[in-house]
Formats: sequence, structure tokens, C-alpha cells
Amino acid sequence: MYKVVSSLSGRGAALTGQFCCSKFHLGSGALCQKSAFKYPPTGLPEMPPCNFEPEEYKGMSKERMMEIRRLNCNPMTMKVTSYKKPVFVHQGFMQWLWDVDGKRYLDLFAGVATVSVGHCHPKVTAAAEHQLRRLWHTTNIYIFPTLHEYCEKLASHLPDPLKVVYLTNSGSEANDLAMLMARLHTGNFDIITFRGSYHGGSLQTMGLTSNAAYKYPIANGLGCTNTMCPDVFGGPWGGSHCRDSPVQTIRDCGCAQDQCMAHDQYIGQLKETFATSVPSQIAAFFGEPIQGVGGAVQYPKNYLKEAYKLVRERGGVCIADEVQTGFGRTGTHFWGFQGHDVIPDMVTMAKGIGNGFPMGAVVTTPEIAASFAKGVHFNTFGGNPVACAVASSVLDTIKEDGTQQISLNVGTYLMMEMAKLRDKYEIIGDVRGKGLQIGVEMVKDKASRDPLPPESIAEIFEDIKDMGVLIGKGGVYGQTFHIKPPMCITMEDADFFLAVFNKAIHNYMERR
Ligand SMILES: Cc1ncc(COP(=O)(O)O)c(C=O)c1O
Repeated sequence: MYKVVSSLSGRGAALTGQFCCSKFHLGSGALCQKSAFKYPPTGLPEMPPCNFEPEEYKGMSKERMMEIRRLNCNPMTMKVTSYKKPVFVHQGFMQWLWDVDGKRYLDLFAGVATVSVGHCHPKVTAAAEHQLRRLWHTTNIYIFPTLHEYCEKLASHLPDPLKVVYLTNSGSEANDLAMLMARLHTGNFDIITFRGSYHGGSLQTMGLTSNAAYKYPIANGLGCTNTMCPDVFGGPWGGSHCRDSPVQTIRDCGCAQDQCMAHDQYIGQLKETFATSVPSQIAAFFGEPIQGVGGAVQYPKNYLKEAYKLVRERGGVCIADEVQTGFGRTGTHFWGFQGHDVIPDMVTMAKGIGNGFPMGAVVTTPEIAASFAKGVHFNTFGGNPVACAVASSVLDTIKEDGTQQISLNVGTYLMMEMAKLRDKYEIIGDVRGKGLQIGVEMVKDKASRDPLPPESIAEIFEDIKDMGVLIGKGGVYGQTFHIKPPMCITMEDADFFLAVFNKAIHNYMERR
């Protein structure tokens, strides 16, 4: 038996199995049976109902898809395939996915934090269909309304002086472009990023990315230097008041009010990087407001503010990579950087911008744009009419559906309840994030904070999937579960996931 440290209360009491219900989820999602408790420790948690009927799948067999994947798709597709028994996705609607056998899943990973307002959201789908019937493609050598409507709308979501929009096809392309613009504007070359970060896989952005899994043994990242990530859970410093999250770390804190030792120490590391690893004048500092692929890592409050000041003193521009944190995902604000009370010189975005439609953007100041205007930059698909129509509808939908508020409410609830599970189980080391940008770091034990080994993570991950929930995993050692769902999930979905997560951890602890 494992040690139970404390139990759940309040709304989360549902997880302890005190409430009655009539059904629980049986793999297919549609098939639910009677149970004495809402979330009996021994039974399968109930999947919330869904009245959307997916089409019957009549396509290629799973075996044939696997064969083609092995023979004709690049080997990377096999390498990144999640799960021992993979999910063969057929259809999606809002927060739900169906596999080719008709089994329903609650999608809490959104195709890697990308489906922002919901799979095949009816309003966004209608906007795409409308545009597809009028004009699929032209480039910005001509003048067409969708591009202008979108650029104006996107710029209206950013504070002054961030008003000039470049449209791209992906996050990597956006970050490539931002690197180029920063270098041209400042006349400097060196760029600093955080250890553990992921900013893309192109040759240039591979240099920004600071995670060995995504590096290749070729010349890359000339002029890119990383600095210690100010990770208040996993790093050398951190306490129980450092971060802007509804849940703090389990680490002790001896700091007086209005003082943060972790902040000072991590800023000291950045100063050390300035003193030892880059010239006195630099081009840029790239930072995500919450480190995404790195494990939803959060920094001490005011760290970014101080870092921006130090970077600007050295001639550099400050770039916020909002590829994961933008478009209301952090709940309190539309952009993650607003939670740090800073205004970057450039903001890069992708993923949620198009709810899954391939698109990205860089938004910057007229001054930086002027430096870049000396040459000619052209990309065929940047500003594609269908992409602009979709992205414009995404912005409207975020507002109409109140998805930022949903992120705040459901995300905060999820984190508070997950924190109770952290207190219950020795292997849940940290729960963190803001809104629906949530990380759950799994550890061997709380004293060491050493990462739970990949085999154990894989077992829990598979079990959660088998119970009907898709989450992500990441972190430098693959030790952090990611919860970054479409921002249309409900409290009932959250309760279902909490019950599934509780059960998966319980199952793992019983087995080991
Ligand atoms: C923070 C961040 N920046 C940039 C990228 C690269 O985006 P893309 O995969 O669209 O090139 C990613 C992708 O995961 C990301 O998470």
C-alpha cells in the first residue's frame, strides 16, 4: 500500500467516492453503466455526456495505417507516436475526439496546445467554408480584405507600440523571422534563451531551443546562448510564494514580504551569463511567459521585468514567444506577458491563433518594422485568405464564447484540485501554471524532486488514455504531464479528468 498524505474536500470530494451517480465511462465513452458512487476508487470514472454524433468511420484499417506510417511516412512520425496502443483519431468536436472505433476521448492536449476554441468549432468552420467558396489563395502582392481585416483585428488585441503584423505559417517561422528582425534592428547578433525552452525546429530556432531531444549534431544556433531557467520548483532556488499561480510549490520559503531570494538568485545567473557568455551588446532575449514544452515552468514574479531591463540596457530587444500562452490561455490576460507586467518589443504566436489551421505571426513596433523594411521579405502563404478568415473568426469566438474566462475558472479549479492530489500522493511533485496552461511534475519522491522515470510516466499516461482522457507530457526529462485543452472545457470535464487522474495514480501506486 502507498501512503495517503491527505484527502480531498469540497467540490473535489466527488473524487473520494461519496456521491451517487447512474453511469460511468466504459472505454467507448458512449457505453456507461450503473455505479454506486460517482468516482468509486475501483470503478471507472464517468465521462460527461456529449450529444454530438460523429460520423461512422469507414476508412482505412488501423493495420494498414501503421504499415503506411512505417513505409511512407518519415521515421519521425513513428518516433513521436504517443502510447503503446496509439490513438487512431477519426473526428473531433469541441473538447472531444473520437477514434476510428467510435471511442470518445476528452482531449486535454488540443493537438499540443493548439485547438484553442474547440475542434471543428461551428462558427470557425463556417468562416473557413465561407472563404473557401470565394478565394482560397492569393498573396499580398494584391490587396484583399481578409488580410486587412485580420491584421487590424489582431493588432487591436496588443498594447502600443505593438501594431505591425507579419503573418507566417508556423511558430518556427515566426521565431526565425523575429531573430532576423532583432539582429537587423539592433545591429547585434547574440540572443539569449532559457535552458529547457522550445522555440522551434528550424535550423535557426534549433539554436534558441535548449533541450537536447530537439538538437542535432550540426552547426546550429550560432550566436544563441542559454541562461538558467528560473524554475522555482526544479531549480536550485524557489519557495512557496514565488510564482504567479493559484498553486505554489511545496518548497519552504524564508523570505520576508516583498522580497524573493529566488528572483535575486536567478537574476544573478542572468547577470553571470551577460558577464561570461555574450558580448556587451546583444540582439535579443527570447522568453515564453510560461515555458511550454519545458514543462509549464513558471518564473519568480518580476523576473521577466528585471530581465527585460537588463537586456535593454545591453541594446537587445525583448521577444515574448506566445505560441502556447497567447489568446487567453493563461486566463487572467489575453497574452501571457501581461501577467508579468512587461511590454515586449516583439511577440511571436502560432498554434491557438488558427484553432489548428496552420498559421503564425510576429507582431512588433513600427520602429523595428522599419529596420526590416530595408530588404524584401516575402512568404507565399503568410496572410493566406482562408488562414486570415479562420484566425479572424477565432478572435471573435474567443470573445463570444468567453474562453479566456473559462480558462481562468476551469483552469484555477483544476489546479486547486490537482494540488490536493499532489498532497495525497508522494509522486506528484508540483502542480503549476495559469488558466489552462497547466503542468504536473511527477517525481520519485518529494524530498529529492528527482524526475519519475519515463517507464512510470508512460504507464500512467497510457492508463489515463485508456480511461478516455488525452493529456500531454514534456519537460526536459519527460517528467511533466501537460494539460492544455481546448478552452471550451467545462467543470464537469474537469471533475472527470480529476477522477481519472486520481485513479491512474492510485493504480500505479498499487502496482509498484
Ligand atoms: C513555445 C513554442 N514556440 C515555438 C514553437 C514552434 O511552433 P511550430 O511547431 O508551429 O513551428 C512551439 C511548438 O511547439 C512552441 O511550443
